Amino acid sequence: VKDGTKKSLVGVIDDGTKTVRFVIYEAERSEELAAYQLDKTEVQPQEGWSEQDPQEIIHHIRICAENAIGKLPELGYTKDDIITLGITNQRETTIAWDKITGQPLHPAIAWNDIRTSTTVDAILAKVPDRNKNYLKHISGLPISPYFSALKMKWLKDNVKAVKKASKERKLLFGTVDSWIVWTLTGGPNGGLHITDVTNASRTLLMNLDTLNWDPMLCRLFSIHPDSLPNIYSSSEIYGVVKDGSVLDGIRISGILGNQQAALVGQNCLQAGQAKNTYRSGCFLLCNTGSRRVQSTHGLLTTVAYQLGPDTPAVYALEGSIAVAGGAMKFLRDNLKLIKDVVKDTEQIAGQVFSTGDVYFVPAFSGLYAPYWRKDARGIICGLTAFTTKNHIIRAALEAVCFQTRDILEAMNKDCGMPLSKLHVDGKMTSNNLLMQLQADLIGIPVLRAHSWDMSALGAAVAAGGAVGVWAVQRWRRHHTPADTFLPTTTDDDRDARYTKWKMAVQRSLGWATT
Ligand code: G3P
Repeated sequence: VKDGTKKSLVGVIDDGTKTVRFVIYEAERSEELAAYQLDKTEVQPQEGWSEQDPQEIIHHIRICAENAIGKLPELGYTKDDIITLGITNQRETTIAWDKITGQPLHPAIAWNDIRTSTTVDAILAKVPDRNKNYLKHISGLPISPYFSALKMKWLKDNVKAVKKASKERKLLFGTVDSWIVWTLTGGPNGGLHITDVTNASRTLLMNLDTLNWDPMLCRLFSIHPDSLPNIYSSSEIYGVVKDGSVLDGIRISGILGNQQAALVGQNCLQAGQAKNTYRSGCFLLCNTGSRRVQSTHGLLTTVAYQLGPDTPAVYALEGSIAVAGGAMKFLRDNLKLIKDVVKDTEQIAGQVFSTGDVYFVPAFSGLYAPYWRKDARGIICGLTAFTTKNHIIRAALEAVCFQTRDILEAMNKDCGMPLSKLHVDGKMTSNNLLMQLQADLIGIPVLRAHSWDMSALGAAVAAGGAVGVWAVQRWRRHHTPADTFLPTTTDDDRDARYTKWKMAVQRSLGWATT
């Protein structure tokens, strides 16, 4: 213990798309003390399908917690110093399970799985003019395979065990936070079936005004409200872990979807502040305060956080990009152009001064914001006999930056006031070249956070705040970014490149016919 006084600790379960982490913070200094991480098994049974094993998530949480907690004695702490837990999770990923046996009825359907394309068409057929934005005024979201309601409907329509459990009133649905809390708090023996407002706002079933399940939406997707979790704020004591694991007996007092958690972790708690998190996808959220801004330019309206049951919800506009770091993984695993997604992309792309007019649109599973086109597919265009892998890798990095610009353009139009800076986090931000390209291609300063995992920090703030150990005000005053990247390009340069990017995007649209 650094200064000889023992302080309260907050543990965070961070379930991402690709990894599970357990992080332990010292609350008063907001300092990360120990962490442990495991990779998850991704299963892609068919093209466009992406599944995860719900039991593996729980297993990994327990192993990560044991290992992170195992590091505490050498730091002068014990498990008993962890006074509460926060949870932050990949959003939209959907799990169906049996409340009597506690067993999942199907693998988790991941957020970026596009098997529900036909389910989307079936829903569109029921709404006037097949308008994909028809439910936006209630839910903030377009009708897209991305959101949980489509996945729940698919499970009910296509999986016998889910259908049967539904008939027998034994079916429970949830996003990953719900599955984790239910299992950790006792499962079939009294487990809590709950979620928080941020996760609920990603299902396409929650009404953004009432912060409750919307009866019309539940009917449209044929989801019985009994199978859905109760919705709570993001910061309050929900219950206690009762699973016999190393976490047994610890309270749970914070839940936030991982992108909203990063907004909190980045201290973007004022209206007009925005952050972008660069991981396998990329998610730019701008805090709009108590205002629910209705986007007319392809962005989502979502709950940013509600830090306590008696405090009002704060909203955000979000631009979601399905493939960011995922494009680097494609270069590594499919094309074998690189070995390390962060270091190699910086080093190899840095050997050329431009992409040589090559553009890479990584629309592997369609395009999310602001296009929302499930029929888009990936393209690399502008190839010449001089193109090398360096140019292609650099174009993949630039694709992340151009997609971010797409979002910023939409955000500036929706909000009427352009953003003057962008806070960034996520593993990919350790790539300095990417950060400089980002500043150059959007023309505003890019402020990189101290640590890449702002989601875990945000969940710690929510959990610690609920039990009164996180000095939120003090943390806010001292929270400053680590580095700033300033734009080095002219408006003309930037706009010319962006026009070319838009041409490339046009070529990717409509490629898939279903
Ligand atoms: O909406 C999906 C998002 O929450 C996934 O985040 O970082 O696990 O890829 P990540």
